Amino acid sequence: MAKSSAQFVCQDCGSVTLKWAGKCEACGAWNSITEEAAREEVPKGLSGGKGKKIEFVGLSGSSAPLPRMMTRLSELDRVCGGGLVPGSCLLVGGDPGIGKSTLLLQAAARLSADAVVAYISGEEAVDQVRMRAVRLGHAQAKVALASATSLRDILASLDQPDCPQVVVIDSIQTVYADNIESAPGTVSQVRACAAELIRLAKRRGFVLFLVGHVTKEGTIAGPRVLEHMVDTVLYFEGDRGHQFRILRATKNRFGATDEIGVFEMTEGGLAEVANPSALFLAERRGNVSGSCVFAGMEGTRPMLVEIQALVAPSTLSSPRRAVVGWDTNRLSMVMAVLDARCGLALSGNDVYLNVAGGLRIAEPAADLAVAAALVSSASDIPVPADMVVFGEIGLSGEVRAVAQADTRLKEAAKLGFAQALVPARPRKDKGNAGGGVGSSLSIRSVGHLQDVLELFRPD
Ligand code: TYD
Ligand code: MG
Repeated sequence: MAKSSAQFVCQDCGSVTLKWAGKCEACGAWNSITEEAAREEVPKGLSGGKGKKIEFVGLSGSSAPLPRMMTRLSELDRVCGGGLVPGSCLLVGGDPGIGKSTLLLQAAARLSADAVVAYISGEEAVDQVRMRAVRLGHAQAKVALASATSLRDILASLDQPDCPQVVVIDSIQTVYADNIESAPGTVSQVRACAAELIRLAKRRGFVLFLVGHVTKEGTIAGPRVLEHMVDTVLYFEGDRGHQFRILRATKNRFGATDEIGVFEMTEGGLAEVANPSALFLAERRGNVSGSCVFAGMEGTRPMLVEIQALVAPSTLSSPRRAVVGWDTNRLSMVMAVLDARCGLALSGNDVYLNVAGGLRIAEPAADLAVAAALVSSASDIPVPADMVVFGEIGLSGEVRAVAQADTRLKEAAKLGFAQALVPARPRKDKGNAGGGVGSSLSIRSVGHLQDVLELFRPD
């Protein structure tokens, strides 16, 4: 028997309580619990019915390679692990206005050259989408366009033998199922609508793109379960003040998650950036103290970025530490090591650290570049403009080797850098096997952070 009553659902994690509360006990979020109409299904006993015997197979065995569909937006294909897999579902999240609709409309238009593509918008009217297509130069693309929000209508239209091969739903928060009483965008609605759409995508074998809104905390609105249900979760991020946007996979059942796609938002839509290092370094001014170029890696791709530090005397009792694009705790660690192991105390100074261009770096390999930028700013002696830096710093001040040193050096040489400040002992791994690749660079190896300070001694 189905019993219908009210229940309280956390809009962040989806946990259900019988009473309203200001704070969700399950995930700790404040003010996230709202009332929703409940439909409690009493589960039927399973022991009575007869199940079918499942067949087990060996782990080894031949399976056909996954067919892939190329979007021809190579940055998107790269993040998806080399193209789209039919029957899979991709969730695309990001701040409002970051360019999710633009990205998916461009992908849809490119795909429509040799696939049947449907774009269903619940947020914009058909005319608005058409206007955007004109602006993007895709007015003639054969994309089937509709403005709809009813799940029932969408399912009925897609559940056909000649269904599209790719379907974009923009956004999942606007779709509603009329058999659920709560408002569109609530946990129950989002979860139910996504489940139905994914089931259909698997059955009919089409690629399903779901656009998801992002909450203040930066996670996709609606329950976390949405992320579990889909095959791939992509976040589209970037700074409003900057032109470029980064597409990052946080989950991918069909590929690695450490690849990123780089785009530039232009008048004519999103342009792919094949050489991100050149873009990130475009506005760099040489011979300024506190600026240092870090040779980083994003997945398999080397990426050179400028790290800027400003060390200024502070009048505050607890000086300011402001970090953009890097981990604050990591900065504290590098400063503590500089203080305790090298005698460079910055405790009376405000310290600002910025990864230029708005990129976010997570690699420990940036430690040495950060330290060089800090020391350079503190001593007011510039890091040579043609020098790249990478290396991890340990708590005793030792500079540790990092992976893929050769790839980093090769990229630096390609972009015209002449010197590299690197850890003394190379790590023995695949990326470092080549030896001599960076031979066009003059290599300065350092074993301890103290050696870096020596470089910035005024003569
Ligand atoms: P949009 O794709 O609507 O963002 P989302 O779907 O993530 O909310 O992007 C809107 C922004 O992109 C808007 O601020 C204007 C900008 N934009 C351009 O700069 N150039 C373009 O060609 C287009 C279509 C949008
Ligand atoms: Mg949009």
